[in-house]
Amino acid sequence: MKDQELIALADKARAMAYAPYSNYRVGAALLTGSGKAYTGVNVENASYGLAICAERTAAVKAVSAGEREFVAIAVVTDNGGSPCGACRQVLAEFGPQMRIILADSAGKSREYSMSELLPDSFGPANLPKK
Ligand code: THU
Repeated sequence: MKDQELIALADKARAMAYAPYSNYRVGAALLTGSGKAYTGVNVENASYGLAICAERTAAVKAVSAGEREFVAIAVVTDNGGSPCGACRQVLAEFGPQMRIILADSAGKSREYSMSELLPDSFGPANLPKK
């Protein structure tokens, strides 16, 4: 799948964001090793701290469908904002080499590698073998 298609999926998904408190609507589309894409949106709550980000929504949908390899994610917001630290860590578990494509609502995009966004990360290899 081309990056522009992934961005388009994220942008389309963004319409479903539930963000009545922040008004910051986020759409994500996660490409996995099987070639499928899983979308996600941010889902806020009247108990503010329970908001879940679009990236983690997409990640849990993909893993719930049996996916274990993340290749790339496109994230679309009004201003091209970057994923929060919690989302970086969750994505890195399944995509230490993945690409992160950030786009704004005007279609301007930029790309990072996971190691750029989360250098010297903690991961499965840091845990003792069972
Ligand atoms: N948010 C995301 O969905 N992804 C991010 O990477 C940053 C923040 C959401 C959470 C909350 O619903 C809103 O954006 C404002 O923080």
